Amino acid sequence: MTDSPASLEVLRDRAGAALMHTYARQPLAIESGHGVWVRDDRGRELIDLVGGLAVNVLGHAHPAVTAALTAQAGRLIHSSNLYFTAPQVELAERLIASAFPGRVFLCNSGAEANEGAIKLARKWGRRHRSGATGVVALEGGFHGRTMGALAATAQPRYREPFEPLLAGFEHVAADIEAIDAAVTDDVAAVLLEPIQGETGVIPVADSLLREVRALCDRRGLLMIVDEVQTGMGRTGRWWAHQHAGIVPDVMTVAKGLGGGVPIGAVIAAPRADVLEPGDHGSTFGGGPLASAVACAVMRTIDEDGLVERAGRIGEYLRESLLSLGAEGVPVASIRGRGLMLGVVLDEPIAARTARAALDCRVMINAIGDSVLRLLPALIITEAEIDEGMRRLVEAVAIARTEGGA
Ligand SMILES: Cc1ncc(COP(=O)(O)O)c(C=O)c1O
Repeated sequence: MTDSPASLEVLRDRAGAALMHTYARQPLAIESGHGVWVRDDRGRELIDLVGGLAVNVLGHAHPAVTAALTAQAGRLIHSSNLYFTAPQVELAERLIASAFPGRVFLCNSGAEANEGAIKLARKWGRRHRSGATGVVALEGGFHGRTMGALAATAQPRYREPFEPLLAGFEHVAADIEAIDAAVTDDVAAVLLEPIQGETGVIPVADSLLREVRALCDRRGLLMIVDEVQTGMGRTGRWWAHQHAGIVPDVMTVAKGLGGGVPIGAVIAAPRADVLEPGDHGSTFGGGPLASAVACAVMRTIDEDGLVERAGRIGEYLRESLLSLGAEGVPVASIRGRGLMLGVVLDEPIAARTARAALDCRVMINAIGDSVLRLLPALIITEAEIDEGMRRLVEAVAIARTEGGA
């Protein structure tokens, strides 16, 4: 059999020669997708439990996304932030309505949103906290790969090759005493994710979020919440911090906002809203195309009740995962909320499982040796979860055999 021009084998060779080796890609070439299903180069249909790493909130090829994209593409794709466009304003209004009163800066990615939040915190500290510019962030936190976001990110393996990084960041344990102790006069803000996704789906307790809110009020700091992965309804609330009943001063958003089209946002409450003309900008940020699609994504999530559904079906997924223990899957615990779940395994077979899963026609993400991460589309059905679980059980059996278990 000769390889087709877009077969996995051919793409892998061409990518090896033409693309930088920045990603350790799985052996899967995706040609198309529909709902929570993708089709590969061999015509196989796989269940996608990765959801583009929390991006494809409405699944693949959702009619609302496709319609907004094509309609806006035929009207106006780009115009620059020198001018007003209706989709951008509507999106800002929708974000504020879903989150808290404030104003929005639109950009293109999670890292860019965090860069904006860091700049905002520095300017705010100069103005309102005697020139303080420091940021306290959490051990295990991940905020992106650009230089400021990387400085906010804790793990040495991401940071060390690129040092020296931006100064002024301190990483402390997820513990209110540790955070309090790190808040010197030089600190302007505390930055954290409600659930640490990249580090293994490690939740920050609601009680800690409330304590950080109280600390920021008491010590006069900004509380910045990174909802890049946790947001857009995935945890059963529009924004995961809402489970804790708090309102941050600043929130960063990206991933699911555009349902697959790149877009990010920074939302600042009135007290934090210090950026003025000339302070910050982005050529593509909040362009009419991405903004129109993001409006369609937010509208669909609202109209179809997908936030509440994510909480409900997330419980079904959690129960299903727990019950896999009886079917030979070495489940130690399940972490996370709604449709952002991590399965902690008793055996170091996560990477082998993710690889074997492709042969069993299911996509799942491995973090380290022993965590499987699931971030499926909010539209996933119970029947699709059942089928995904059947395939996952097969994959784990293969992974355990390979490992000599
Ligand atoms: C919590 C969090 N913040 C920021 C980022 C960076 O987002 P992006 O890859 O869009 O720059 C990520 C990406 O995984 C993330 O999970």
